[in-house]
Amino acid sequence: METKILQVNPEQFGDEELQEACQVLRNDGLVAFPTETVYGLGGNALHKEAANHIYAAKGRPSDNPLIVHISEVKSLYELAADVPEAAKKLSEAFWPGPLTMILPKADIVPKSTTGGLDTVAIRMPSHPIAKELIRQSGVYIAAPSANLSGRPSPTKAEHVIEDLSGCIDMIIDGGEVGIGLESTIVDLTGDVPMVLRPGYITLEMLREVLGNVEVDPAVLSREVKPGIVAKAPGMKYRHYAPKGQLTIVEGETKQVVASILQMVHDKQKEGYKVAVIAAQETANCYPSGIVYSIGSRKCEGSIAAGLYDILREMDHLGAEYIFAESFEDDNLGQAIMNRMLKAAGYHIVKA
Ligand code: TXA
Ligand code: MG
Repeated sequence: METKILQVNPEQFGDEELQEACQVLRNDGLVAFPTETVYGLGGNALHKEAANHIYAAKGRPSDNPLIVHISEVKSLYELAADVPEAAKKLSEAFWPGPLTMILPKADIVPKSTTGGLDTVAIRMPSHPIAKELIRQSGVYIAAPSANLSGRPSPTKAEHVIEDLSGCIDMIIDGGEVGIGLESTIVDLTGDVPMVLRPGYITLEMLREVLGNVEVDPAVLSREVKPGIVAKAPGMKYRHYAPKGQLTIVEGETKQVVASILQMVHDKQKEGYKVAVIAAQETANCYPSGIVYSIGSRKCEGSIAAGLYDILREMDHLGAEYIFAESFEDDNLGQAIMNRMLKAAGYHIVKA
């Protein structure tokens, strides 16, 4: 299959520009498109054929449910069998934006979209291209991140091309996304709202609106423990991982730097290709040529935005051992460290 690439300027695009993409969606084809978090791989959420195409293109296990993207709050009432007060409050506070809610599903949502579950994940994105695509096509768009299963999520059209070119109908290139980590997922089907995946909308922000909110213990876990299984099916898989072995080094800055330098030295001596992922503030402590600066500790957003691109870069380099500094795990840092720990397969070293 030839994948058509459509260049669209998110700040300025005409009424006609997305028509072809809308037609692909109406015909149960697949269109990758930018959202404010990561690029999504979209298909018609209410047609099981489209969902099956998505699973096949990504090489994704079909028990891993998809998020349904909407452009108006009223669609919640069509897709969810019950819309609790908490969902109304969250939609008012954070939609359109990087928040996904899990609710009991309505009958019109096929189980192929929900991975066989009786619940459905719903999100209203704020990216202008995503918004217009949903609105103009008249299709509720099921969209996982537009990467091959197990690879880092795409934050640029080039990443989607790398993974899915030739396997899907169209890619809308709207440039680099803003946030760079997938949406926060909050499950509203239990007694207490529960965060299943941390993201740009932090626990503190959710608590401000809802009061009591818990976090799935698997999200906070710093090791793989028997008996602790993530409640979002997709969170249990090895994910976001570069091909090389990523090690995260924790501790006092000075010791972290010294410890990474030592490990770099040892691995290079053994003949391995080595890379270091460091904050902007400490990047110059490592040999140039092997160090990749991920962003500033003073701006967690810059770290979030750069993470997946750097993990992909590690594969382009052919890095066999990768040593990364760790980051604070409060606020947005919780999402950053959650993704880094998974990418590292929970391989952490204390300096
Ligand atoms: O930011 C995002 O959410 C991006 C963009 C494209 O919107 N999408 C995204 O989709 O990250 P995906 O498929 O890569 O991740 C969806 C996650 C998976 O971990 C999945 O298991 C979980 O959401 N999920 C979906 N429906 C669920 C449900 N009914 N119950 C529990 N978890 C669910
Ligand atoms: Mg994904």
